[in-house]
Amino acid sequence: MNQPIANEVARRRTFAIISHPDAGKTTLTEMLLLFGGAINLAGQVKAKGQRRNTRSDWMGIERERGISVVTSVMTFEYGGHVFNLLDTPGHEDFSEDTYRTLTAVDSAVMVIDAAKGIEARTRKLFEVCRLRDIPIVTFINKMDRESRDPFDVMDEIEKVLALDTTPATWPIGRGRDFAGTYDIASGGVRLMDDASAKTGDAPQIALAELGAKNPNLDIAAITAEIELVKEACRPFDLESFREGHLTPVFFGSALKNFGVGDLLDAIGKFAPSPRAQESNLRRVDAAEERMTAFVFKIQANMDPNHRDRIAFARLCSGKLTRGMKAKQVRTGKPMSLSAPQFFFAQDRSVADEAFAGDVVGIPNHGTLRIGDTLTEGENLTFVGVPSFAPEILRRVRLPDAMKAKKLKSALQEMAEEGVVQVFRPIDGAPAMVGVVGPLQLDVLKVRLKDEYGLEVGFEPSEFQLARWIASADQKKLDTFITANNSGIAEDLDGDFVFMARNQFYLDHARERAPDVTFTDIKDVK
Ligand code: G4P
Repeated sequence: MNQPIANEVARRRTFAIISHPDAGKTTLTEMLLLFGGAINLAGQVKAKGQRRNTRSDWMGIERERGISVVTSVMTFEYGGHVFNLLDTPGHEDFSEDTYRTLTAVDSAVMVIDAAKGIEARTRKLFEVCRLRDIPIVTFINKMDRESRDPFDVMDEIEKVLALDTTPATWPIGRGRDFAGTYDIASGGVRLMDDASAKTGDAPQIALAELGAKNPNLDIAAITAEIELVKEACRPFDLESFREGHLTPVFFGSALKNFGVGDLLDAIGKFAPSPRAQESNLRRVDAAEERMTAFVFKIQANMDPNHRDRIAFARLCSGKLTRGMKAKQVRTGKPMSLSAPQFFFAQDRSVADEAFAGDVVGIPNHGTLRIGDTLTEGENLTFVGVPSFAPEILRRVRLPDAMKAKKLKSALQEMAEEGVVQVFRPIDGAPAMVGVVGPLQLDVLKVRLKDEYGLEVGFEPSEFQLARWIASADQKKLDTFITANNSGIAEDLDGDFVFMARNQFYLDHARERAPDVTFTDIKDVK
């Protein structure tokens, strides 16, 4: 362990926000950045479409649709900590990158709309976090509007996600009468209408002072409820949180910047600093002296004139300095990190140094792939970025049949880069592409045209679902493959995938082949 590096690592918190569209992720992100002084509010609060557009302006289709294609990284300092907030594309820009980003964080904030509770996308993203036991802090948002009973929402988290909850704060009043929050650990109260609440900095007052401050409140009822909460709810347990079994729950309003400060303090105080990462050889500790990193995302065409690629790499250990030489373990080739880029809120700047937990952008011309490991020489590979079963499957239509060969190699390259997944049916039928978000198809189409001169269309496929199949008994797997020949394809790595028309067919196949496993997430080997 190297002490200066260990000190830097201990300061870092690398996290993401998971939520269903419209729960308030963008609003919360802005408020968090405000704490870090990374943005000024006046310049930020814009109409929604416009606001999303300010994030990045790197691709034509992004501009056209007013959404952000990139997973950006926002770095800011607050209270002695360095926070790296990795953005998880949400609305129409939801894609595999959203999932992959979650493999590069050490903790996550789960934002829930207080009126809606757990929604589909939140649940999915949570499952990805659970794969790596990522600790989750929960923020129940929009408390200033009509909301569900807080006990009810916590109960839903416990039941639907099988995740223990503990209230860190408790709301005083509901909906229009939402007055503030009670802090379970300190016993203090913060009020929404406190003048400094706007900056997120409302001071705490004692519960006993509440009546004098706000005569409309039923103090006896509030006190009784708080007593009940303290009695009935689990206490906070750091270890359980760090292991991903228990989530502390905060109540607030991102729009009013209320409760956001408490949330950020909790991430600083309780969320883990960069964790040791598993590799094929050994566990790599973040405070080790030598630099290691893995690539979790590739962004192409940030500058269309240069056909450049930016590989987003998460540092797993040590320190990266500009100009250093790194080894790309997959190819064994050295590469010079001459212009690594750092991301500060919306801006990019060249990084001079970065530490474990940080994310840097490495410009390259297609040499780096998702899942690649970079080291200072050691031949280890991180077991990092899995593949996720597509939710949309399409056949690629190529009007110009003369270009079939070109399409094949273009698709191969796009799949290697992680733009889409490609499945080649073993019966020789045309290749299928699979994505988790429709925007990936748009990106593929634009890139095939711009970079390969290929005009393609997409046709619906008879298949809706794809699952990787395996069996401890090779014969049983072979039998299954032979029996389902027209529904079997190979992925980029030559692994077999079973494609089903719908859930019914999938369940049916599962029942009939109990020795075959069907998985919707494939870990890298
Ligand atoms: P997202 O990124 O998760 O999709 O959500 P976003 O922050 O864009 O918020 C979705 C809508 O919810 C926005 O309203 C936003 O202003 C509102 N919102 C977010 N947090 C709160 C909150 O704490 N309280 C209340 N009352 N509303 C909140 P919109 O009308 O759809 O967009 P806009 O045009 O107002 O930006």
